[in-house]
Amino acid sequence: MMREYSLTVIFIIILICAAAMLTLWVFMPEKGGDTDLSDESSSLPVINSSENNSESSMVSDDTTWDESSVDDTESSEDSDETSGKEINWNYTVDISMYLKYIEPENPESFSALVNKNTVPLSADYVPEQLVLSANARPGREDQCYMNATAAKALEAFLKEAAYYGYDDITVTNAYRSYNTQYYLFYDYYFKLEASKNPGLTKSQIIALVSAYSFPPGQSEHQTGLACDMHNVAVGNQDSFNHSEEAEWLADNAYRFGFILRYPEGKEDITGAIYESWHFRFVGRKLAAYLYVNNITLDEYYEKGYDIYSENQ
Ligand code: DAL
Ligand code: ZN
Repeated sequence: MMREYSLTVIFIIILICAAAMLTLWVFMPEKGGDTDLSDESSSLPVINSSENNSESSMVSDDTTWDESSVDDTESSEDSDETSGKEINWNYTVDISMYLKYIEPENPESFSALVNKNTVPLSADYVPEQLVLSANARPGREDQCYMNATAAKALEAFLKEAAYYGYDDITVTNAYRSYNTQYYLFYDYYFKLEASKNPGLTKSQIIALVSAYSFPPGQSEHQTGLACDMHNVAVGNQDSFNHSEEAEWLADNAYRFGFILRYPEGKEDITGAIYESWHFRFVGRKLAAYLYVNNITLDEYYEKGYDIYSENQ
């Protein structure tokens, strides 16, 4: 009897031990030491070196610059962004007398970056060589002074536009002094503050206003190299967006040394809303480079490109 009792106790103990071992095995994180994370790892994005390269370079770091990168779009094929951008060096107007302006001898003096992140131009900075644009809208002449080289290049640009039937585009605004920009900016500021958004903080209002009017010292209108042009009413410039004229200007600006400075889709980069009317003179070489690579002036500097460097 005693012996049977002992065997039963031993059997129960063995059963309990077996159950405990089974439980441990089931809940062990790495069963039997066989680490298998294949399911998890297969759902992770795989970053291989070639993908990494294309992600990190909008224009590859070894992109070189010479005339052929303008004449032949295939030379920039290492950039995904170049697709669809065709260069056209055929002009209908005779640009021979304009070429020295369109492609100036000292192009670097036209390529300065001015934006919301750059050190503000000083309040007393006034560019040299301001002239009245020949394309000023009647009645707005006092606001249509611009750099003399840019003004001549613009003349050719709008002659070409007229040839294609876009003959009513005029400049409504060009050089703006620091003070003018100051009053413009704060005029928008106070209007917004007084209007429908009384709850906005000062920094929120500044952020909203500076999407369409840069703070004083940070507008490239102060350089004399930018102009606003269109064929609609002043104050109703948005209606120019996506018009046939706007598209033509955007696609042909580089041929005359201009760029559409605040394109649609690049708002996060430029810090400005799409402005179909705002063009900036940088000289033909840089304008064509930016156009064919589909990059803004901001990106050009952010990525450290320098087409005028001897090493490029
Ligand atoms: N409208 C542009 C962003 C400026 O104020 O310069
Ligand atoms: Zn403008």
